[in-house]
Amino acid sequence: MVDRDRMPEHVAIIMDGNGRWAKKKGLPRLAGHNAGMKAMKKIVDHSDKLGIKYLTVYAFSTENWKRSIAEVTGIFKLLVTYVDSDLRELKENNVRVKVLGNYESLPSDAVKSLEKTLRETENNTGLQFNIALNYGGRDEIMKAVRAIGKKLEAGEISADDISEEMISEELFTGKLHADVPDPELIIRTSGELRLSNFLLWQGAYSELVFSDVLWPDFTPEEYEKAIAEYQSRERRFGGR
Ligand code: FPP
Repeated sequence: MVDRDRMPEHVAIIMDGNGRWAKKKGLPRLAGHNAGMKAMKKIVDHSDKLGIKYLTVYAFSTENWKRSIAEVTGIFKLLVTYVDSDLRELKENNVRVKVLGNYESLPSDAVKSLEKTLRETENNTGLQFNIALNYGGRDEIMKAVRAIGKKLEAGEISADDISEEMISEELFTGKLHADVPDPELIIRTSGELRLSNFLLWQGAYSELVFSDVLWPDFTPEEYEKAIAEYQSRERRFGGR
């Protein structure tokens, strides 16, 4: 059972296992992503009901471009379907959508739909739903270093001014961008025990919870189990 008084403020999820789910059922991989999208919608709803303030999902990594063109195109089609058909519901539920990652280089219809969603949900004050798209943790840190390097070159700062806060600000999650606190909890489904380049900087102190369930089967009940596991751990931040 989750303790409503000790909810994490920010939960991040690596939605893994769509392909294996489809394979098990003898279906094409895209059927797995479609089922994954439905699972994701329920988790967005449930996060809101639980009073979670920030939910981040890993929808497409910088490495995912290596998949077949058909699969990559299919995932972006699903994304467009999701943001277009759910925009009204997201607005009704006061959800604010943000994107983490280099989404500008996605197919143009996906960029258009995303920008509309970002614009129209910008002033909502409920759950902040961050979709990590064309996102990679190392890429994000490299870009932050570059941005700071430019300030250095321009003489705006000196090397000694560089601080953890300055690096944090420049990340996709930073104050200058989506403005999200570090996640207290990172969940990965499908039994894989890796971070796979997800929120490398931000996850420094996150509790990691791994579920054996394949993403399309990850129900609100499984979600609550993961949160309950997080709540059962004591967080010490390396101190005593
Ligand atoms: C991981 O499963 C899933 C992805 C790479 C894509 C995630 C996409 C969705 C949940 C649906 C679409 C929603 C949006 C917002 C784009 P996998 O394919 O790596 O599974 P496998 O490890 O079993 O092959």
